[in-house]
Amino acid sequence: MPLRTLRDISALREALGEYRRRGQRIGLVPTMGNLHAGHLALVEAARRHADVVVATVFVNPLQFGAGEDLDAYPRTLADDQAKLEAAGCDLLFAPSDTTLYPRGLQSLAQVLVPGVSEGLCGGSRPGHFDGVATVVSILFNLVQPDVACFGEKDYQQLAVIRKLVADLHFPIEIVGVPIVRAEDGLALSSRNGYLDARERDTAAELQRTLVALREALEAGEPVAATLEAGLARLRAAGFEPDYLELRAADLTAVSATTREAVLLAAARLGKTRLIDNLTLTLPH
Ligand code: PAF
Repeated sequence: MPLRTLRDISALREALGEYRRRGQRIGLVPTMGNLHAGHLALVEAARRHADVVVATVFVNPLQFGAGEDLDAYPRTLADDQAKLEAAGCDLLFAPSDTTLYPRGLQSLAQVLVPGVSEGLCGGSRPGHFDGVATVVSILFNLVQPDVACFGEKDYQQLAVIRKLVADLHFPIEIVGVPIVRAEDGLALSSRNGYLDARERDTAAELQRTLVALREALEAGEPVAATLEAGLARLRAAGFEPDYLELRAADLTAVSATTREAVLLAAARLGKTRLIDNLTLTLPH
């Protein structure tokens, strides 16, 4: 089936109504476009969990802070459409800013997810997760999917969305999809396109550092000294780290009883901000 691209909410509702009348289970893949293999893995996951897949492409102004890359963010709709069609996506909803936010952003009702959205990326990008939680809630209300797929690269975002769905009783199954990496280990991201050739070579050092730290922590090395060594290694490679933290898998602070944990990092390389994470099991 060819991909249908819709821009308007009324056309979207009509198309979704057809799916529902046929009793089809709807899978949602929200994206900001500039699609890569990581996004296509989300479409594949949605196909496994649903009968029809609806992707969205919307560069959400509400989740970008002042001085961030909203204007520079790559917009590649024709290329995205071709990739979605090849991946077996059924419908693309690609609204304009005024379709999604017809009354503007100034006094927009917003969805806040306290706790899990604080610290980490929420600390270095104030208001970011309010913007994510708000647009994802709008998309959930418009599409009313049975299942929605999100990448585990944005580990904190996934935790925010899981809490949003639980607290606001959205009847939606949330599926986390493993990180897709380039051959050298760099997590795929639309922002990797900002890297020049030298930075692209260096970028994989972020994942190599996390792998080395995981090995040390799983071997029982002390947490504070291990993270310090990780920060020094990133700085020596040319990164400016925003944070490098070990948290329990649910993003609460690690304690003596924590076993399932996650290492999370955000670091700038030139003008590009990269994030990555690795889960690990701490020793008894
Ligand atoms: O992960 C993203 O691409 C965005 O944060 C999302 C979930 C599509 C909301 O704009």
